[in-house]
Amino acid sequence: MGNPKTLTLILFSLFAITSAKVFFEERFEDGWENRWVVSDWKKDESTAGVWNHTSGKWNGDPNDKGIQTSEDYRFYAISAEFPEFSNKDQTLVFQFSVKHEQKLDCGGGYLKLLSGEVDQKKFGGDTPYSIMFGPDICGYSTKKVHAILNYNETNHLIKKEVPCETDQLSHVYTFIIRPDATYSILIDNVEKQTGSLYTDWDLLPPKQIKDPEAKKPEDWDDKEYIPDPEDKKPEGYDDIPKELPDPDAKKPEDWDDEEDGEWTAPTIPNPEYKGPWKPKKIKNPNYQGKWKAPKIDNPDFKDDPELYVYPNLRYVGIELWQVKSGTLFDNVLVSDDPEYAKQLAEETWGKQKDAEKAAFEEAEKKADEEETNEDAAGSDAEDEDETDDVEGEDSDAETKEDKDGEDEEVHDEL
Ligand SMILES: *[C@@H]1O[C@H](CO)[C@@H](O)[C@H](O)[C@H]1NC(C)=O
Ligand SMILES: *[C@@H]1O[C@H](CO)[C@@H](O)[C@H](O)[C@H]1NC(C)=O
Repeated sequence: MGNPKTLTLILFSLFAITSAKVFFEERFEDGWENRWVVSDWKKDESTAGVWNHTSGKWNGDPNDKGIQTSEDYRFYAISAEFPEFSNKDQTLVFQFSVKHEQKLDCGGGYLKLLSGEVDQKKFGGDTPYSIMFGPDICGYSTKKVHAILNYNETNHLIKKEVPCETDQLSHVYTFIIRPDATYSILIDNVEKQTGSLYTDWDLLPPKQIKDPEAKKPEDWDDKEYIPDPEDKKPEGYDDIPKELPDPDAKKPEDWDDEEDGEWTAPTIPNPEYKGPWKPKKIKNPNYQGKWKAPKIDNPDFKDDPELYVYPNLRYVGIELWQVKSGTLFDNVLVSDDPEYAKQLAEETWGKQKDAEKAAFEEAEKKADEEETNEDAAGSDAEDEDETDDVEGEDSDAETKEDKDGEDEEVHDEL
């Protein structure tokens, strides 16, 4: 499927970095439709959404288009093929920009890298992938960057929390995996997380485990505080009554001792009473800390020096469910060179971000003014608006639950 002519053109036309290998680069300029295949997934259920080739409602350059989800409550699946390669012995850089114009409240903005042979017409939620990367937002609790690695036919979520951007502007997400099995996640060319594939995903069993044979020694003292042996009960402590007769209580006028019995004042809590005596606590001078089993090498651990390798990467895919549409992707890159990726981000997002922000603010202002005008035009219109809002929120909430359910399914599979 790949268009070798375009790829070659891209390879040599961009920046003066000659060392960079670009396996795939897509700026969604003319001809993009020849490189991407829209999947038939969900078409027979009429829930397949349509992509809009656009620069969006606000942008830094109206001629710089990407692809945007254009219908609410739809599934989206699209993919592009590139010449198959392995990232063995080289750095893998996966980057794209995404803008959620719709004020995303529940949905993803991630991309996938797929390997081997994929029927692009059938690409969908169940299609196995190698890497999934990008922001995921749902309600107040989920605002994170997904970085899922497939290893040994199992999907593994990153164990570290990487917060994502939540505004309505374009942001660049970059995932770098190096041959020394380290990785970095960048947003807008700023590193947000870095570490090792060994520790930040559970791809392999842990290198070391707690010694299952080890036992806490009998005489291990793990009490941090003990009763002070010097502390003594003050004399007369136990004589303090818990309650006292209420000094303000008066015998009622009509109290008849013969009929009602002898009158006694009701009792109230005694402020002097402090409960049963307990010696005060002091730090235990013999405290040895919490006992921990010593670690030993895990017999089940077998190192895989090719932990980071995806031997036959071949497609980039976008597969999403959108309650509210408006997510716009652009500048997709698969390369071996973080410096090249950085420059691409600077040349595109970096150059446009100020103008985009200004355009966004202008659009917000205009929307506010229109709202004010509508309000002035009469309360009927306003009432209608409000009803619309409420309906929208309700169905969002429902669908949010749906999505959570779906997510759980996905996570179960992981
Ligand atoms: C595509 O996006 C543009 C810009 O936001 C918008 O004006 C147009 O209506 C959209 N087209 C479709 C089919 O959604
Ligand atoms: C791969 O997964 C299978 C099944 O879960 C497991 O038995 C096997 O040990 C795993 N291999 C590696 C190298 O992790």
